[in-house]
Amino acid sequence: RQFGEGEQQTLIIAHRGSKGTHPENTMVAFLEALEVGAEGIELDVHLSKDGIPVVIHDETLERTTNGKGWVKDYTVEELKCFEASAEFGAEHKEATIPTLEETLEWLASTQLLLNIELKNGLLPYPTMEEKIVELVNKYSLEERIIFSSFNHYSLVKLHQLQPEIETAILFMEGLYEPWNYAKSIGAKGLHCYLPVAQPLLLQRAREEGTPVRPFTVNEEAHIRALIQGGSSAIITDFPEKALQIRRSLA
Ligand code: G3P
Ligand code: MG
Repeated sequence: RQFGEGEQQTLIIAHRGSKGTHPENTMVAFLEALEVGAEGIELDVHLSKDGIPVVIHDETLERTTNGKGWVKDYTVEELKCFEASAEFGAEHKEATIPTLEETLEWLASTQLLLNIELKNGLLPYPTMEEKIVELVNKYSLEERIIFSSFNHYSLVKLHQLQPEIETAILFMEGLYEPWNYAKSIGAKGLHCYLPVAQPLLLQRAREEGTPVRPFTVNEEAHIRALIQGGSSAIITDFPEKALQIRRSLA
């Protein structure tokens, strides 16, 4: 079974873990997502200086850690020395930058779905796709993974490497009939910026059998509207709140 296939309800995907309440893209945030009952997690990947996939959102360290400069200029061993709790301070001082491998190893012991977003829009990171596919295979997680990226050339490469793993296009604006475009590059899901996810798009995508998983859906009114509009999933910083709203609508 592919990611979420055959699901009737809107799946709740915890954005960068549970970014709203815990330090984004760290194990504490992923554990929180599991604990509150989210169906899945979304995380972001860059490559370290020694070519290891690491889980962090920005190309640089300043916003989320106590490090400085580019992720690509540090080895994993060096990256591991930084605290990755910049936005949550003392409470989560122990949080560090996870490698993708550590995260997959843990995920394999759960039932969670995982959306791996490749952050290769600005930096090309040659061989990033091969490395990530290899790790997914190592932990036999093919059926629980979706690859997404704003770099659609990278999605084509991922699809060529392993066509059975779903790829999903990330986009910010109103593409015309995006299900046709997605299919043309071997992708399936539409991961669109929230304002693009209007009722007509949800309805047309459903008729085409194309899953829509908008980001980042945090306001109660938006969560409600997307669940009622039949969105396949929502990517949210507040999975616990989204799950409460989903229960209240059931
Ligand atoms: O994958 C959905 C969303 O995470 C894309 O934007 O900047 O939060 O990675 P960003
Ligand atoms: Mg992301």
